[in-house]
Amino acid sequence: MKCVRSPNGIKNLDKNAAGEEMGNNPVRKASDNQINKEEISKEIMIGQNLEEDPGFELLKRIINGNTGFNCEHYKEAHFRRRINLRVRATNSESYGAYLKLLKKDRQEYEFLLDALTVNVSEFFRNPETFKIIEKEVIPSLVKYRSGSLTRSIRIWSAGCAAGEEAYSLAILLHRTLKTDFNRYRIRIIGTDIDAQSLEKAKKGIYDENSLKNLDPDTKERYFLKQGDRYRVIDEFKNITQFKHHDLISNPRTDHFDLIVCRNVMIYFKKEIQEQLQLNFYKALEKGGFFIIGKSETLLGTAPNLFRPYNTRERLYIKEI
Ligand SMILES: C[S@@+](CC[C@H](N)C(=O)[O-])C[C@H]1O[C@@H](n2cnc3c(N)ncnc32)[C@H](O)[C@@H]1O
Repeated sequence: MKCVRSPNGIKNLDKNAAGEEMGNNPVRKASDNQINKEEISKEIMIGQNLEEDPGFELLKRIINGNTGFNCEHYKEAHFRRRINLRVRATNSESYGAYLKLLKKDRQEYEFLLDALTVNVSEFFRNPETFKIIEKEVIPSLVKYRSGSLTRSIRIWSAGCAAGEEAYSLAILLHRTLKTDFNRYRIRIIGTDIDAQSLEKAKKGIYDENSLKNLDPDTKERYFLKQGDRYRVIDEFKNITQFKHHDLISNPRTDHFDLIVCRNVMIYFKKEIQEQLQLNFYKALEKGGFFIIGKSETLLGTAPNLFRPYNTRERLYIKEI
């Protein structure tokens, strides 16, 4: 569950199975009993008006100009839903009214950017995928690298949110390599466009809910309990790096052994997804693995470039 901070308080957004937010529904969830009928019908009215509101294009241009967040790359419906969240949360009657508020209140940009980048994640999200990574992908990488001089393993968690995915991979590597862990040069790079998430990733402190897929032994071995929160062990700080990076405007040219980009491309327009998949192909070592989200697919020329390894878990190999 993601919380969108709002000047009017904290608003929880439920996630449905596809990972899409439901908080955009003009009528908030039933448990939110503080909303009376009058407020509900006002929200519905705002929702209907927004559909025909011509201020949307101008708002997009202003957001782009003032934040560098390129709205044109994202699917319009998704983008509109996320902006509407803020329009409603601030009780703005139109996009124009919201624009005025943005001009007056610089902090609203922060709330807006937080809403635009969907940062929901958790440790071992889709545990079945991580089972395959642990049982097949990591042993294959280790075997491949064990004979090399440097024994280096390079992994990229692209769109890493607050680092849950990157640290999950660190746990799997540690579990597999055991006492050999320090004999390998492991680099797990987590990148994201959202500065706040990256700060959280660097701190590596999480609440209980983010760790709900972990068994007690794993929690105990890889985290230090601090009050009701959990901090990843320092050993992982040495092998992980979190960096600001926009996937669209800045393709990477490294040679990774494994690239994980899950639940990120789904928000982008089709042609952007195609380009990104080509970029990922170029950034992979020959024989390297590529994993995308369970509701994402390879597009354009990517299906001809990658060999399916496990289609159910959206796991592919760069063979040539
Ligand atoms: C739903 S999270 C996915 C987190 C993790 N990969 C997972 O599956 O649990 C999507 C992340 O993509 C990031 N993102 C969105 N647009 C991006 C871009 N252009 N470049 C890099 N990251 C981006 C968001 O900030 C967000 O943290």
